[in-house]
Amino acid sequence: MASKTLDRPDVIRLIAGPWISQSIYVIAKLGIFDLLEKEAYYQPIAQKVGAQPEVLLRILQALVSEGLLEQLDNERFALTSSGRLLTSDVHGGLRNLAILWGEEFYHSWGSLLSTVETGETAFDSVHGASLFAYLQTRPEVAQRFNKTMTELANVFYPAIVASYDFSTSTQLVDVAGGCGTLLGIILKANPHLKGTLFDLPHVVEQAPAVLASYGVADRCTRVAGSFFESVPSGGDTYILSNIIHDWDNDRAVEILKNCRAAITSTGKLLLVEMVLATEEEPQLARMTDLNMLVLTGGRERTRSDFSQLLERSGFTLQRIVPVGDMTCIVEAIPN
Ligand SMILES: C[S@@+](CC[C@H](N)C(=O)[O-])C[C@H]1O[C@@H](n2cnc3c(N)ncnc32)[C@H](O)[C@@H]1O
Repeated sequence: MASKTLDRPDVIRLIAGPWISQSIYVIAKLGIFDLLEKEAYYQPIAQKVGAQPEVLLRILQALVSEGLLEQLDNERFALTSSGRLLTSDVHGGLRNLAILWGEEFYHSWGSLLSTVETGETAFDSVHGASLFAYLQTRPEVAQRFNKTMTELANVFYPAIVASYDFSTSTQLVDVAGGCGTLLGIILKANPHLKGTLFDLPHVVEQAPAVLASYGVADRCTRVAGSFFESVPSGGDTYILSNIIHDWDNDRAVEILKNCRAAITSTGKLLLVEMVLATEEEPQLARMTDLNMLVLTGGRERTRSDFSQLLERSGFTLQRIVPVGDMTCIVEAIPN
């Protein structure tokens, strides 16, 4: 495997990563990327958000040096095209992501050393509950999490319909499909297809507006439940997008066995996941692997890891279809 060569300043920049992400987080959280669309002077912005003007000035100047803002003169700032990605209403916006990663997730990363020493999931030890249990009791954080997933889905999932042929499927079950963006995208592009959206109760209750926005609500059923108990039966295609990487091998096998119990004998199982150690391995994949370790105790996997998980669960891996430059579809059939 080719190794990168970094010089000393590059290494210092790597070490300073949290300084940069926390600065972005603060400006995103205070809504200042949004305010900069209409107001260039930092003093009125500071007044509006209740910030110390001189402290705010220094953070804005730091973000100029990171390419997110431009300083027009001593008092005025403007968004660069990269900074605009951190505003609220832009397609593919990253504001919710910056806030989500800057709060509970950031504090969990502070306990990576303890995870290495004890094997305990950092999020659980820092926040006293597993991520998905925590989200069930914190509606504000859950809303941020679901919005972030929806925004990422809007950017990455259109490539799924371009890369995978759903013409032989009739009933698609999206297992842990969040608020329904992926199902909306696939059903809109495949008018013959019916869908079932399955997720935890507080998540599926957010879905009607999303499904309606794709014009597919009349072809969709919503089912609330836990995939550790069962998943809706009768589908011929089951899709799990960014789910298996949330779980360790034994928990992943429990989920997949429940899909095996539900799927028709000629059905197909599609796992939308990063695949490590292939040409398609995205640049951030190894860090995403650690993010899963820290947040949920999950992991990213190689083709052989997926093949073994699927075998243990009563499926056979058929093929891996690359989807855009971030992810793949791991296609499997029941044994
Ligand atoms: C990383 S998100 C992925 C959401 C969606 N598939 C996507 O790609 O945008 C993980 C999803 O798993 C759901 N989830 C977590 N635990 C679950 C459980 N026990 N049963 C069903 N869904 C669960 C969460 O509510 C969340 O929507």
